[in-house]
Amino acid sequence: MENIIIEKSNHIGIITISRPQALNALNWQTLRELDAAVDAIENDKDIYCVIIGGAGDKAFVAGADISEMKDMDVFSGSDFGALGNWVFRKIELLDKPVIAAIGGYALGGGCELALSCDIRIASDNAKFGQPEVSLGITPGFGGTQRLARIVGTGKAKEMIYTGANIDAQEALRIGLVNKVVPKESLNDEAMKMAAKIAGNAPIAVKLCKAAINYGMQCDIDTALAYESSVFGQCFASQDQKDAMTAFVEKRKLEGFNN
Ligand code: HXC
Repeated sequence: MENIIIEKSNHIGIITISRPQALNALNWQTLRELDAAVDAIENDKDIYCVIIGGAGDKAFVAGADISEMKDMDVFSGSDFGALGNWVFRKIELLDKPVIAAIGGYALGGGCELALSCDIRIASDNAKFGQPEVSLGITPGFGGTQRLARIVGTGKAKEMIYTGANIDAQEALRIGLVNKVVPKESLNDEAMKMAAKIAGNAPIAVKLCKAAINYGMQCDIDTALAYESSVFGQCFASQDQKDAMTAFVEKRKLEGFNN
């Protein structure tokens, strides 16, 4: 892969989008490589939590690649949007939590990539925005849908109609990010949270993600029935037996084995 780096450390998979010459902008090739990287992480059963970040401290991702989009027509534009939506939905549905570590600009497709992750940690120099209407297009990688679901329709419409950027503190205030940290400690903070998640029972964490995602798109009774079903499934896992036995026997559990 040319524009994506995959690393692994202590059950944490790290995907870095690396096109620093274009502030990590997403072109066709980078999206295809990201798709393959997500597949690789999904198939690695030894990875329990994932971090997605951008190379350098100036940008997470400064959007979809404008120089490639400039000459697209209705067909290639639709295909490009569909590829981004395909990859980002795969990230959203990945059976392990994904943390976006956002250092610097997260604009357009970059903001949309962050929105498809489970948790967003931003550096104090991060800037978020959906500037598509200033370029004659709509958000096309899920921005019109996920931004409204995360920050509410009023704020989402303001950001999308004005195309104006917001800073990290404002992103925190409106619930677009979970946490703002000094830019020097972004990677450490993301690793710390990923380690905390990876230290919990992987099957239970995976089922929590599935339950929250599924429940957010259906009525409450269907959602609660789904929760009951995943809760029941946990009792088939060795993790549940080991963790509860350790608690009752007043000893520390050394780790989970699934
Ligand atoms: C292609 C990009 C790019 C992008 C930056 N670059 N963003 N190339 N696509 N989205 C390139 C610049 O052309 C430049 O290349 C290099 O990265 C450094 O950028 P500068 O503009 O020189 O940096 P700076 O002056 O610091 O400004 C940073 C910036 C600005 C404010 C982030 O680059 C910017 O406005 N970028 C575009 C942001 C944007 O509109 N994103 C949304 C795109 S639409 P050279 O070769 O000159 O050094 C979108 C749609 C998603 O994402 C859905 C699609 C279906």
